[in-house]
Amino acid sequence: MHAYQHCINPLCGATFDVADVLTSCPDCGNLLDIDYDWDKLPVPKSMRDFEARWSNRRNPLDVSGVWRFRDLLPFARDEDIVTIGEGQTILQRSEAVGRYVGMNTAASTGGLYLQYEGLNPSGSFKDNGMTAASTHAHMVGAKMAACASTGNTSASLAIYASTKQLFKVVVFVGSGKIAYGKLSQALDYNAQTLQVLGDFDDALNRVREVSGECGIYLCNSVNPFRLEGQKTIMYRVLESLNWEVPDWIVVPGGNLGNSSSFGKAFGELMRLGLIDRIPRLAVINAAGANTLYQLVEERNVAWNAGQPDDDIIDTFYADMDRDNRKASTLASAIEINRPVNLKKCLRAIELCDGIVRDVTDQEMLDAKAQVGAGGFGCEPASAASVAGAKKLRAEGIIAPSDRVVCILTGHQLKDPDATVAYHSGDKALFEAKLGTRGVETAAYANSPTVVENNLQKIIEALKA
Ligand code: F0G
Repeated sequence: MHAYQHCINPLCGATFDVADVLTSCPDCGNLLDIDYDWDKLPVPKSMRDFEARWSNRRNPLDVSGVWRFRDLLPFARDEDIVTIGEGQTILQRSEAVGRYVGMNTAASTGGLYLQYEGLNPSGSFKDNGMTAASTHAHMVGAKMAACASTGNTSASLAIYASTKQLFKVVVFVGSGKIAYGKLSQALDYNAQTLQVLGDFDDALNRVREVSGECGIYLCNSVNPFRLEGQKTIMYRVLESLNWEVPDWIVVPGGNLGNSSSFGKAFGELMRLGLIDRIPRLAVINAAGANTLYQLVEERNVAWNAGQPDDDIIDTFYADMDRDNRKASTLASAIEINRPVNLKKCLRAIELCDGIVRDVTDQEMLDAKAQVGAGGFGCEPASAASVAGAKKLRAEGIIAPSDRVVCILTGHQLKDPDATVAYHSGDKALFEAKLGTRGVETAAYANSPTVVENNLQKIIEALKA
C-alpha cells in the first residue's frame, strides 16, 4: 500500500499507517489527510481513462460512482471495499433555476448546473464518504461504529451497517434538532439512536469522547477516509462536463467536510496533471450558523501556509461561549457553529481562490422552491448553494456567462415539514413552522386548491 495518514500542519507533518484508527494527529492535534506515494502508483494518464469502466456493469466497484475512480483514492484493496452502489448521481443544467439565479441562460457553455447528490442510496451526499469510512472500518476489523449527526450522516452510516451487517452502529443526534425523514432512516435501519440533550456541536463532542474511551470507530468527517470518498463528487461533475473544469463550484457549508474534500480533489488532480485549472469554490453558510463566513470574510482568517491565526479563531469561539450563542437555522443539516474541518476548508479556499457567503432562511426556502419547480428538488440546507449563487451573481462576482455548479447535497424528501409549511397557504401552519424563525413570505408557494367533490367544480379549478 502506498497510502498513509498525514498531519495537515506543515510544521508537524507526522505520518501514520492507514491501519491506524485516528481522527486527529496524536502529535499535535491537527486534522489528518490521507496521502499517497503517487510516483509508485498506477495513475491514469487522463480522466478519460475512467470511461473504460462505464461498460462494466458486472463489477460493483465499476458501477459505484465512488469506486470507479478508485485509482484516485487508493487506500484499500478491491476485496476490502464496502459498496452499496453509491454515487449514481447526475449533473443537470437547469434553465429555470439559472434564470432565478440570474445567469445568461442563452450562453452556450455557461449556465447553472445542479449536481443531485440526493440520488444516493440514503438520499444524501454522505454516502460518498460513508462507503470509504465503512471500507476502512472493515479493513481494521471494527465491531462498532458511531457518529454524531444533524441527520444525514446517521442515515448514511445506518444504511451501510444494515445492508452489509459488518458492524453495529450508534448515532448521536441533538435533541429535537433532526428532520423526521432522517430520524426515520436511522430508526428503520436499526441503528441505536441516542438523542443527546443538547445541539449537534454537543453531540459531536460527546461522540468523540465516547469513541475514544470505548474504542468505537468514529465516522464523522474528522475521519480522513470519509473525505477521500467525497472527492469523487467532483470527479463526477467533471465527468458530466466531458472532463471540462467549470468556473464555479458552490456548496453549502456545515461541518465543512465537502468543501475540504473538493479542495483536496482539485489539488491532487492538478498535481497529477489530470486538469489544467482549478474552479473557484464558494462555500455558503446559513446566516444563523455562519462561523466560516465570520472568520474568513469578516476577520480575514486564512490558511496562511498551514498557520491560520489561532488567536482570532480561539477568541471567536470564546466570545461565542461567553454570549451563549447557539447555531439557529431552519436548514437543520447545517445548524453547526463549530465546524470541525475549518482548517482543511481554509486550505481549500486558498487553493480554489474561494469565497464565503451566508444566506438567510428566507433566501434558502425561496431558492429551494425554485429548485423544486425547476429540477429534482432538495432539502433546505442544499438550497443554500443556489441562494448563495444568486447572491454572488447579484454582487457581480459570478458573471452571467459563467459555468456554475451548485451541489444539491440532500433529497427533497428528507425534511418535508418546512416544505409543506412554505407551500401550504395555511397561515397558522406557516406561522407555526416558519414565521417564528424569521421567514416572512412564501413568494414561490404552490398552494393546494381545496375543491368540492364535484366534476364541474374540479374542471373549473384546473389552472388554465
Ligand atoms: N447539506 C446537507 C444535506 C447535510 O446533511 C450537511 C451536513 C451539509 C450540507 C453540510 O456539509 O458538513 O460537509 O459542510 N450534515 C452533517 C450530518 C453534519 O450530520 O448529516 P459539510
